Amino acid sequence: MAEIQLRNVGKRWGDYVGVDNFDLTIADREFLVLLGPSGCGKTTTMRMIAGLEDATEGEIVIDGKVVNDLEPKERDVAMVFQSYALYPNKNVYENIRFPLKVRKVDPATHDARVRRASAMVELDDFLHRRPAELSGGQRQRVALARAIVREPNVFLMDEPLSNLDAKLRVSTRAQIKNLSHELAVTTIYVTHDQVEAMTLADRVVIMKQGVVQQVGTPVDIYDRPANAFVAGFIGNPAMNLIEGVVSGGTFRAERTEVAGLSAPQGAVTLGFRAEDAQVVDTGGQINAPIYTMELLGDSTMVSVRINGALVSVKADKTFRGRIGDPVSIAVPAAQCHLFSAISGERIHA
Ligand SMILES: Nc1ncnc2c1ncn2[C@@H]1O[C@H](COP(=O)(O)OP(=O)(O)O)[C@@H](O)[C@H]1O
Ligand SMILES: [Mg+2]
Repeated sequence: MAEIQLRNVGKRWGDYVGVDNFDLTIADREFLVLLGPSGCGKTTTMRMIAGLEDATEGEIVIDGKVVNDLEPKERDVAMVFQSYALYPNKNVYENIRFPLKVRKVDPATHDARVRRASAMVELDDFLHRRPAELSGGQRQRVALARAIVREPNVFLMDEPLSNLDAKLRVSTRAQIKNLSHELAVTTIYVTHDQVEAMTLADRVVIMKQGVVQQVGTPVDIYDRPANAFVAGFIGNPAMNLIEGVVSGGTFRAERTEVAGLSAPQGAVTLGFRAEDAQVVDTGGQINAPIYTMELLGDSTMVSVRINGALVSVKADKTFRGRIGDPVSIAVPAAQCHLFSAISGERIHA
């Protein structure tokens, strides 16, 4: 059982703000993902929770107890890093067992705990191998088992999949999701990969330059991004964003005219998702030459360029066209998102 509260937590190095005013309660057993581009403060936030970095502002509370002044080993938190940091001269069994020795856990329990943890990550058959005799995915699973074996109150995982190739990343991701369901331990998971965040999280925290942009379930964030930054970060592809001007309820930009919007007059960024628009024969809200097409298998992504930026629409897999052919794209006003051109904040409902 572990609820974690971050109360206005901040990290400064001199004038530089690494994390600003992070304020959130993470529920017991929640799987929370910190998502954002490199350098936005994800690792720093996690290291403050682990006690590897001092918070310069605010309080970190685990199960009602302020832990700011507790050493990492007093916090009952297990961390998995991007680099596996295994002992090269110890075999898998000893690597997994190591934290139990360090913590002086009753030796009579070690064997059962190591075997249970290794079975959970399907390493039972590899206990006698050394790290050099394992694949990257297996090494990462040893690191996971070494965290699991401690039966901690909190798991912290910092980009644990980023050293794996694309295919292995997908299968290990599935394994982490299944494992977290089985273990039911409060987990904070850091990634810059929005697909990982959306597939794993109960809730996602999106950060930019040390500042939390939005906290919500994957569906919340996908359906109602709080600002243009989140809209442009989430989704595959990310939301199309076009800068233009609204007057009399009509948005206008290069080759684009969308009527029927309830938005005040002025400069805005219009957003819509590729899957919410359609290629039509004629009369669409965007009319432009095809810039590129990509066959995805189940569909074809057709892209045009507006104001120099790609705008994509998901068309049928049978779509036939050529680069440079004119295409008309229907963008339903009801599926449009509007963001302030100045602040980037979401405007309409
Ligand atoms: N010890 C440090 N001293 C000064 N700046 C740091 C230090 N550690 C991290 N930073 C800066 O804080 C910002 C956030 O870093 P980090 O939390 O590692 O980002 P992320 O994990 O999101 O990529 C970065 O700009 C980084 O350069
Ligand atoms: Mg990091």
